[in-house]
Formats: sequence, structure tokens, C-alpha cells
Amino acid sequence: MMVVAHRGSSGSAPENTMAAFRAAAAAGADMIELDVRFSAECVCVVIHDRTLRRTTNGRGRVHAQTLAHLRSLDAGSWFSRRHSGEHIPTLAEVLRELPVSIGLDIEVKTDGDRRSLHLRASALARTIDQHGGHRQIIVSSFDHRFLTILARHAPNLAIGILVQPLRDITRRPSRIARRAGAIAVFCSRRIIRHRMVDDAHLHGISIGVYCVDTPAQLAKLQRYGVDMIFTNHPETILPCLG
Ligand code: G3P
Ligand code: MG
Repeated sequence: MMVVAHRGSSGSAPENTMAAFRAAAAAGADMIELDVRFSAECVCVVIHDRTLRRTTNGRGRVHAQTLAHLRSLDAGSWFSRRHSGEHIPTLAEVLRELPVSIGLDIEVKTDGDRRSLHLRASALARTIDQHGGHRQIIVSSFDHRFLTILARHAPNLAIGILVQPLRDITRRPSRIARRAGAIAVFCSRRIIRHRMVDDAHLHGISIGVYCVDTPAQLAKLQRYGVDMIFTNHPETILPCLG
């Protein structure tokens, strides 16, 4: 079972910062999940929310800000004073600076916005091509249309489908994955069912579940036989795997 550090080691450091990613690598996580959005110039930046308020000292929507402004913000103080000075990383920076031994799940946030999908897909494909090296990378999204467009720009990229609880719950994981050419399906711990795991495995598709943060939750997912778990606390979960 692979352990994916969700937004990095986000229980012990500010999510989606280099500090959280380094902590995940130090803990021995197999992969890091991070969230990608786009600056006003369409540069890939790593931040979860649509707006800056919760995790930075800035205000407003991420996509309306220049890269220079985003880079000037403090993305660590909200978490602890010790982490003040952490900034919003670019995806290129993460790809260049993390050890190549750690895999990345790059989750793209589009908020369902139909505009600029091609521009964004090509910016992401180019960034991964230039800086991704031989690292294990999977690109995932709740926006399956974006993933289909991305696959045209980068046919060799591994794709993961995120299952939207309300929209996709009645559909078989293998069906959703096949339509987008995905090799993996990721879903919330709250909606996982044995039949979903069976269907994915029958069709050679990996299945990952988020977020698994306690030993009891981990034991349950081990019984389900899932391939990957996403956790905010890799330091707690990894030792439980032995
Ligand atoms: O990629 C799994 C998970 O990160 C999806 O939800 O909101 O934490 O990005 P969210
Ligand atoms: Mg995410």
C-alpha cells in the first residue's frame, strides 16, 4: 500500500509549502499530493483554496494575482510563527527541489471553470516536461474534462480521476477512469465501498482513498485492499504499516 502525504506533511507543517513537502520526504512517504492553480500569467502555483485568505496573508482570488505578488506572500504564519516566511511554491520549484525518489500526485483545481482549459493544460504539460525529470508523476483532478484535454497535450502522463461524491457516486470507477484514460481512481474515505475496489481491480485500475489519519482508519482501508492512502500525518501512519 502506497502512502501519499496529503498537501505534504500537512499535519505538522503548513499545507502545500516546501516545509510540508520536505517533512513528507523525511517521514518516508512514497508520494506527495499537492494542489495546483494558475497565476494571472498562467504559471502553475501550489495552493489549495480558490482564494488566498485561509493559508496566506493575502486577499483575493489566486488566478487574478501576478506570480510576483503570489511569491511575495507569507504562506506559513497562519499555521505557526515558526513557519513564517514559507511562500507559495511554483510547481517548477517543487519539481526541481524535491528528491526524485518521491512521487507526486499533482491535483489540478479548476473549480469547473471552462475558460482557459487548453492554456492551463499546456502550461502544466510544459512545466512537467521541463522540470519533471524521471520522477513518478500522476496528474489528478475532479475536472475530468480538464484531464481529457491534458492527455491531448501530454499523452504519456499518468492520469488519476477524483470521484466527486454527489456527481459520480453511482458510476463504476472503471467507467469513469476509462473515459479519461486514467490509471487510478481516488475517492473520499466516506464513500469507499468494497464493490468500488473490486470493480477497479477487475479492470487493472489502482484505487486510492483520502484522508486516512488514524491507525483505526488505516486498518479499515487495509481490509478493503486499497492501493494508496492519502494522509495528513505520514509520520503517524507510516510506522503502523510496519
Ligand atoms: O487529491 C485528494 C484530495 O486532495 C482532494 O480533495 O480538497 O483535499 O484537494 P482536496
Ligand atoms: Mg487536493
